[in-house]
Amino acid sequence: MISLSVDAINFAYLISVVLFTIGLKMMSSPKSARKGNLWSAVGMLIAIAATLFEKQIIEYHYIILALVVGSAIGLYLAKTVKMTGMPQMVAALNGFGGGASAIVALAEFLRTTAVPSLDVSTTLVLSILVGMVTFTGSFIAFSKLQGLMRSAPMVFRFQQAINVMLLLLTLGIGAVFVYSPMSNMAFTELIVIFAISSALGILFVIPIGGADMPSVIALLNAFSGVAAAMTGFVLSNNVLIVSGALVGASGVILTDIMCKAMNRSVWNVLFGKVGLEIDMGAKGEQKQVVHYTPQDAVAMLDRASSVIIIPGYGLAVAQAQHILHEMTKLLEKKGIKVRYAIHPVAGRMPGHMNVLLAEANAPYEQLCEMEQINDDFSETDIAFIVGANDVVNPAARYKKDSVLYGMPILNADQAKTIMVLKRSLKPGFAGEDNEIFYNPKTMMVFGDAKDTLTKIVSLLKESH
Ligand code: TAP
Repeated sequence: MISLSVDAINFAYLISVVLFTIGLKMMSSPKSARKGNLWSAVGMLIAIAATLFEKQIIEYHYIILALVVGSAIGLYLAKTVKMTGMPQMVAALNGFGGGASAIVALAEFLRTTAVPSLDVSTTLVLSILVGMVTFTGSFIAFSKLQGLMRSAPMVFRFQQAINVMLLLLTLGIGAVFVYSPMSNMAFTELIVIFAISSALGILFVIPIGGADMPSVIALLNAFSGVAAAMTGFVLSNNVLIVSGALVGASGVILTDIMCKAMNRSVWNVLFGKVGLEIDMGAKGEQKQVVHYTPQDAVAMLDRASSVIIIPGYGLAVAQAQHILHEMTKLLEKKGIKVRYAIHPVAGRMPGHMNVLLAEANAPYEQLCEMEQINDDFSETDIAFIVGANDVVNPAARYKKDSVLYGMPILNADQAKTIMVLKRSLKPGFAGEDNEIFYNPKTMMVFGDAKDTLTKIVSLLKESH
């Protein structure tokens, strides 16, 4: 077997870490994100290869088999998963990451005969605790988003008190293990920690509503990184420590960005039980909406000189990004100024709308961030809302008891005409009725976004 010096291995790890860091930096812009992914993947390949040389591997066959099977499953999932299913996919990947870290740490305890040092035994306990919370918590998040279980918060009396007690119990057993890691009971203690942490993950995520799952997934992503870093200490593997820390830090940053964009604290997301009671707003009050046809929409678009398109989650559901962009091109041909206004939490994951529109080859210059475009609505003829709801809900500005209160919104209601493409008057993710539908300058065009846009595009072509 080829063996490399410790220096060569550490040098390879250093290269991996540099590639991970450059990759992460590149992922912060949609233009360079694909390349960033590739750089990070090369970093991971180097890290895996270096680890295989570093360790005394007795049997390569199983490793190669796992590599082939794992890559095939990953490739299949990446190719087939729908954009709207991406949060679930990320949840599953985080879960496997956390579970793997916990199992590897436990296996290392069984394998080694040496007395673990204080730092190794401490990180071993933390790896199992954080890893298993991530594993079961992620699969609850997955089930809620996939519709395999009720997405509403599941709450019962003394829930948080029970969670705190279980956490303290786990830490207590962990302290006993760290104090005497070679005792006869050591393995049993780790198994008990394993079991309680698994229960904790479930109990931690079930009281959180489906609406908040994307933020929870970002947090669990951070947890999976922390678990990996802890396992890195157990194995004395530098690249695992650093890459785990990078995942942990980026997961925390992402959670923070998502919470800030919704103007909510992480605490409120985790313990606010948002979604427990759906506020339908109107509560028996009769409100009038005016129903328009695609023909009416085209007549209005034909007369406009500026349009701001506001894409939302419904665009992803309808998979209407290509036809939407075709409409944009037709409008531009008519001399109409068209831009897209991207709200930071439109859709169900960070950058959801950017990715969707990039798929349709919408030029980056046409995609405007909220701060960049929000003042232009009052000068715009049509705010064209496609499958968006919460991100244009004016209740966020003034309705103090709304879960949306305080979230910055796109000023669609300031445009001269508001056009809304959706299937019904149902509320969006936050369950809050949207007064913009009842605004006298609003034209509601009901139907699946792709169907409506297809009709609009063919009418625009006819009128060309
Ligand atoms: P939502 O408020 O969820 O509204 C989406 C709208 O799309 C729904 O009202 C739905 O109405 C419509 N729709 C669904 N399928 C459709 C179809 N086939 N054709 C046409 N319309 C369709 O979406 P949004 O405005 O993008 O807001 C995102 C929400 O998610 C915010 O509350 C945000 O806080 C939350 N959230 C986002 C993130 C990230 S990072 N993006 C993370 C956590 C939470 P109909 O059923 O009547 O058609």
